[in-house]
Amino acid sequence: MGAILEIDLAGVVANWQLLAARVAPADCAAVVKADAYGLGAPQVSSALAAAGCRRFFVATLDEGITLRGVLPTSCEIAVLNGPVPGSVEEFVFHRLVPVLNEPGQIADWAEIGRQFGRLPAMLHVDTGMTRLGLTAREFERLAKELSLESATRWRALISHLACADQPGHPLNDLQRRRFAAQHRHFSGVPASLAASSGIFLGREFHFDFVRPGAALYGINPQPGASNPMGQVVRLKGRIVQIREVESGESVGYGATHVMDHPGRLATVAVGYADGWLRSLSQRGSGRLGGERLPLLGRVSMDLVVFDVSTADPSLARPGGFIELLDDDYGVDAAAVDAGTIGYEILTALSRRCHRVYRGMPDQC
Ligand SMILES: Cc1ncc(COP(=O)(O)O)c(C=O)c1O
Repeated sequence: MGAILEIDLAGVVANWQLLAARVAPADCAAVVKADAYGLGAPQVSSALAAAGCRRFFVATLDEGITLRGVLPTSCEIAVLNGPVPGSVEEFVFHRLVPVLNEPGQIADWAEIGRQFGRLPAMLHVDTGMTRLGLTAREFERLAKELSLESATRWRALISHLACADQPGHPLNDLQRRRFAAQHRHFSGVPASLAASSGIFLGREFHFDFVRPGAALYGINPQPGASNPMGQVVRLKGRIVQIREVESGESVGYGATHVMDHPGRLATVAVGYADGWLRSLSQRGSGRLGGERLPLLGRVSMDLVVFDVSTADPSLARPGGFIELLDDDYGVDAAAVDAGTIGYEILTALSRRCHRVYRGMPDQC
């Protein structure tokens, strides 16, 4: 068996409840794209739906179809990338709500709405991210026509902040003001601007509902400040072999680490094929019996090596476990060591990791 990934669904629910309480009376949706950032969209979404979450966001049609098979019909599933040409019928068939980002998607959706009757959709306006959503010029040209569009039932007007993790960045307030002005053309339509970090910029960023993803999964929405979110994942690897080494012996591919003391090493069944990034070579660490142990040499496809010289030998034995992610060394800490962000640490955790769920909905 490769790596074991324990996912605390009750912890995800607790994170959602913390954010929901913080933004009330605004609503709190859940972003569960990329298989709920690698943690399992069906399991995570079911737990959140049982806790009262009613709006879910995925990125693609396929993700939406998977989720539609799991969530109660009372839950709305919005697809951020919107329909690619030729896919509008599938949205209708699976009762998915597209986020319409550009004039072609808007026209295709209105066309099918004229056949099937008024269909729900969200409209995405770009207020400064320059990625998805109507440009300011397109919005100016289309706003009046869109707000009167009878073939589409607008479920929300959304926009996305580019710099929400930098509270002092001037673009945050500029985007907020642009969005508020655009929302005036859509009075009565719920508005949504903030994702995880935007929630912590203040009430004026909450509008009618917020769309957190990362914070649900324990990633710090306020980099640089203490993390208000609980850790929800634990990654463990099984020790396959223990060996005694002499000072001067090298470890792993490329012989990049040379022992400067005689000691004991544990070879652990976790590698970059499990999503434990190769950039954690020589930088990562693990924990055994409460003790933090350095990762030596390169991360290889299926294995990593830890220095267990100081660890309790009754724990540092074949069949024992070393923890790679836990409450003490969470996704953000691993991200710093890997030179990336917590989002990439989570979404990189591969299908080979054996996923174990705790706090399933009926236990929540
Ligand atoms: C449009 C949109 N809304 C919400 C989110 C959730 O963001 P976060 O994971 O930072 O909360 C994303 C994530 O990329 C997004 O693209």
